Amino acid sequence: MSRKALIAANWKMYKTPAESKAFIDAFLPLVAGHTRDEIALFPSVTSLATVVASLAGTEIRAGLQNMHFADEGAYTGETSPLMLKSVGATHTLIGHSERRQYFAESDEIVNRKLHTALKHDIVPVVCIGESLAEREAGDTASVLKTQIQRGFAGITAEQAAPIVIAYEPVWAIGTGKTATPEMAVDAHRIVRAEVAAILGSEIAQGMRILYGGSVKPDNASSLLGQEEIDGALVGGASLVPASFSAIVHY
Ligand code: 13P
Repeated sequence: MSRKALIAANWKMYKTPAESKAFIDAFLPLVAGHTRDEIALFPSVTSLATVVASLAGTEIRAGLQNMHFADEGAYTGETSPLMLKSVGATHTLIGHSERRQYFAESDEIVNRKLHTALKHDIVPVVCIGESLAEREAGDTASVLKTQIQRGFAGITAEQAAPIVIAYEPVWAIGTGKTATPEMAVDAHRIVRAEVAAILGSEIAQGMRILYGGSVKPDNASSLLGQEEIDGALVGGASLVPASFSAIVHY
C-alpha cells in the first residue's frame, strides 16, 4: 500500500506571528506545485491563526504542538481542541518528547489526548521514541511497544485511520545526531508490527510513520527514500524556508 508522505515542521517555541508570516511568504513559492507529499506546519499557539490565514488557498495544513484533552475548563495555560478548530487548524502533535520530558506528559495523558483528537476529527501526530540510555540498554523495542500500547489504549480500528505516528529517538532531537536509515527502518518496523498487533494489519499498513530527529537537507533523501519512512517531523531545519523546502523536495 502506498502511503502519502507527510513532511511536518515543528517550530517549537520559535517565531512570532510576523516571523511566521514572513516564513510562509518565502516558503510558498519554493513548494508551489509540489503535490507528492503533504506538508503541515506546527507553529506556536500565538501564531496559529496567522499561519492558517497565510496558508489559505494552499493544501498546506496547520496544527498545534500540544492540545488539551478537555473541550474547555479551568486548565490555565492550555489550548483546547475546539480552540484549535476555531482558527481553522486541522492537526495536533501529541506526546512530543519535550512535553514528556519537561511537562510530565505520560502515556496516559497521550491516550486521553488521542481520544479527544479523534473525537473532534483532528489529525493526531503521536510522538514516541527511546532515550539514549534506553537504546544503550537494548530496550528500544520494549519502550516503543509500551508507548504504543498505552498511548493507543481503547482506540479501535474503526477510529484509527487518521492517526500519524512520529518516531523521534530522543537522543537525535536537536543534537545533530541522526538515526541511520537502518536504525530508523528497524524502529519503524517494530512500531508498525505493534500497531498491527493492536489494530490489525490493514490499519498498520496504511498508517504513516514519520521519522524525526535532526532531519536536515543533506540527510533527508537517505531517510525519506526508505519504504518504511512515511515522512519527517522536522525541528531546527524547518525554521528556515530554504532548508525546509529542500527537505520537502528530498
Ligand atoms: P530537530 O529536527 O531540531 O532535531 O527536532 C526534531 C523534533 O523534535 C521535531 O519534533
